[in-house]
Order: sequence, then C-alpha cells, then structure tokens
Amino acid sequence: MFSRRRIREDRHSDVSDPNLCDLCPQWNGKSVYTSSFLRTASLITPSHQGLYLAVDLGGTNFRVCSIQLHGNTTFSLTQSKVAIPRALMTAPTAPELFSFLAKQIETFLKTHHNEHFQAHQQRRKDGLESQEIFQLGFTFSFPVQQIGINRGTLIRWTKGFDIDDAIGKDVCQLLQFEIDALHLPVKVAALVNDTVGTLMARSYTSPGKTGTLLGGIFGTGTNGAYVEKLDRITKLKTAKGASTDYDKSTGHMIINTEWGSFDNNLKGLPITPYDHALDGLTPNPGIQMFEKRVSGMFLGEILRHAILALLSKPNCQLFKDETSGSNDMHSTTTIADDSPLYRQWGIDTSFLSVAHEDQSQGYRITRQALSRDLGIDAASSEDAEAVKTLVAAIGKRSARLSAVAIAAVILSTGRLDDSAQGNIERKEGKQVDEEGIVDIGVDGSLVEYYPGFEEYIREALREVEGIGEAGEKRVRIGIAKDGSGVGAALIALVAGRGG
Ligand code: GLC
Repeated sequence: MFSRRRIREDRHSDVSDPNLCDLCPQWNGKSVYTSSFLRTASLITPSHQGLYLAVDLGGTNFRVCSIQLHGNTTFSLTQSKVAIPRALMTAPTAPELFSFLAKQIETFLKTHHNEHFQAHQQRRKDGLESQEIFQLGFTFSFPVQQIGINRGTLIRWTKGFDIDDAIGKDVCQLLQFEIDALHLPVKVAALVNDTVGTLMARSYTSPGKTGTLLGGIFGTGTNGAYVEKLDRITKLKTAKGASTDYDKSTGHMIINTEWGSFDNNLKGLPITPYDHALDGLTPNPGIQMFEKRVSGMFLGEILRHAILALLSKPNCQLFKDETSGSNDMHSTTTIADDSPLYRQWGIDTSFLSVAHEDQSQGYRITRQALSRDLGIDAASSEDAEAVKTLVAAIGKRSARLSAVAIAAVILSTGRLDDSAQGNIERKEGKQVDEEGIVDIGVDGSLVEYYPGFEEYIREALREVEGIGEAGEKRVRIGIAKDGSGVGAALIALVAGRGG
C-alpha cells in the first residue's frame, strides 16, 4: 500500500501547515527540533502501516530505502547503498552532488518499485496528474538550521564533505529540484538528522513502555539527539528573534546536540600530536574536535599518523629489522612505496577492529591485515603487538569519550533522578523494572562492529560520578539498525498526513 497523497499546488510549502511549521530556533548554536517532531514520535504508534521512502546522506554511503510498516512494531526494509565518490564530496557546486543523489533514487525506484514508477511516467506522458507520490524522509546528517519539517539550510559540512556553494541553501529544495528534473514521483516530506531518525526508530521498536531518551550515532561521524523539557531551553525565551510560535503541547523538544563539535577549543579533550596532525589536514581544522577523536572516519587516520611518527624516529624498531634473524618471520619487513600508510585516509577503521580483536598466535591475523591492507610485508609479531597497542589506545579512547557524551545527556536531563525510585529490581520472570530504565538507541559502524565498544562505554559510565555502577545498570543501549532511514520514513509518514 502506498502512502496516498495528491500532488499539491504548494509542493514546497508544506511548512505553511501550522502543525508542521514550528520554526526551529538555534539553541546554543545547535539545531533543535521542535515539538512537532516529538509529537511525531508520540503520534507514531506501532499500528501505523504503509510504504515510505527514505534516503540517507551523511557518511561514506548514500542509502535509498523503502520501508513497509506492518503496524505491529515491525517493519520490512528494502535498501540499496552506494559509496559516495570522494570527488562529489568536494564537488565545486551543490547540483553535482544532489543530481547524483536523485539518480540513485531513480535507479532504486526502477529496481524495486518499477510498476509504480512506470505508471507514474505513463500518467505524466498522458498529461495526467500523478496520484500516488512517495513521501520521502531525507536524512541529512550535517548541521542544519531547520526552519520547517521539510526545510533547512546547511550551516557547515562535516566528515570530509566540502561544497561551499551549498552553505546557506535549503538542502530539501536542492534535492527536490533534482528529483523534479527526473520527473520522479517523490516528494521530500521531512528533513531529519540521523540522530533524530535513530531516536524515532528506537522509540518505534524499543521494548517496553519507557520512552527513548537519546538517539546516538557512533559511525563515520558521531552525534546525539535527545528529548529535553521545553522550560529548560532558555534560548527559546532569550535568543534575539527567537520564535514563540512553536508547538508546546508535549512540553518537550528534541535537541540535536551536534556534539561532534563539543569542546572545539580543546579545554578538556585529550590532545596528541597525531590528533593535531590529522586536524591540520582536514577541510575544517579546529571544528568537530570531539568527533575527530571519536568517530570511525578518523580513527584510522589517527593510527596512520601515530605509525608514521614512530617510523620517523631513527631508534624506533617498528617495521625495521637489522637482519632476518631479528624477525620471527625469518625475513625483513618491507613497506610498499605506494602503501596506503602514506596516503591521507589510507587506513580504514575496519583495520582497527581486526587488530583490536586479534588473539591469534603471534598476531597472525594482524600481520595478514598489515600485508593485505597496508602493503607491509613480513611484519614481526612484535611489530603486530605494537600496532595492536596503538589500536587499543585509539579505540578505547573513542569509546570512553563516547561515554562522556552519553553521560552528559543522562546527567543533565536528570533521567536517573526522575525514576530514582525504580531501582533495578529484578521482578519475577527476571524482567527489569521498566520505570528505572534509561533507554538509548544507537547506530553506526563503531558501536555495531568495533569489538567491545559498548563494554568500554559501560566501563566508563560506571566511573562517572552521578552514574556509577547502579546507574550504568539502568542504561539500556539498543542498536537501532538503519534507524536513521526508518526514523526518517516515520517522520515522512506523519508529515504526509499533515501532522
Ligand atoms: C556529523 C554531523 C551530524 C551527524 C553526525 C553523525 O557530526 O555534523 O549532523 O549527526 O555526523 O552522522
């Protein structure tokens, strides 16, 4: 079943709907999502059904998916993923990127919903208005000044994207323009940050009655969106020009913290020469300093700088053997001239996952990865061990910093106090008391695949004053796999119904 919606005259002006048009002021420089998003969350009940489209731009890949909601907290997802060519991430103009995105949507529709696609094309040829338009949730995971449910201007790029021409432009309009140029039956109905989508998706799928507090992404980038009480958002009252015309019915708002830019002036974050070297080579030095220590895009690059620094020290033995006698591979280590070690972004985070987990004899698996991924042949077991030590420091630091951001949200919202009475008692049937739970939805390659990532987070949470062992036990972390896409589709659903 399609989400049935006639094309309206005001294709781009849905924000005129008073239910949807809450202006989203800036909160301490961060985007805030208005109550309508939260109302969206409360409006979405597991009984919602239908087929929705979502696209996701924000990391290494561009995803297009259609989501069938079954009306019983479950859904089916069809998706295609394509790597975003690096050249497009820094294209001279925005249409180059956005036309590529629209073409991927076209291919997806032809592949997975061809009947509908062809019917639409036929009606267009016959001069008839199309009756069935896909409502599309656009997950755009960059800092945006959101000014309506399907309107938002780009504040700045992150995660290696750098297209000056797009700054200050409405990213929904940029995408809709290219979609219309291809005559696709698609309406960009909602603009969503991946963290907000994750929060929505987790709310739809999480067990029990406890509302989800936080949606966190620990993938290519890192960020979190959480539910805040309206009266705590002082900027809503004090900011110059702040609108008072927003939906106050729930008493809450979702705040996209953009915590990737936490502590850009480095008052508390750890600083190593490798962090410094990495930052200097990015298109946005001095920005996203928290993210540059935490997220998947950067961990390989930190390791690369650390290895290069060790290699440059004449008396450091890493990958250097006097003779084959000092190498348990009975050879001497060689590094290929064109090794990715010498290339920016040359080490993928998956390398760190492999090395971190490796318990094989003589670290055979790490040595294989060094050879296969980095062109470093015949590394000794001591070399592999040294690399593993570096990797463990980088990975663990990332997880422990992630815990800081999570802890900050838990403590600041007083979630542990709210339900202090709901101690983690195990009831009959070993059910955790729902009252005491702080529910967190997460997504991203690090939290999903990096060995021990959640356990490192938990270990750090236990050390945070105000959380401790008892508090940590009450934190329920659940993967909201592909949450950003599902959440965007859920929001498109409500937007498509006119709130
Ligand atoms: C970057 C973006 C942010 C996004 C995060 C995770 O930090 O600025 O909007 O949520 O990456 O993808």
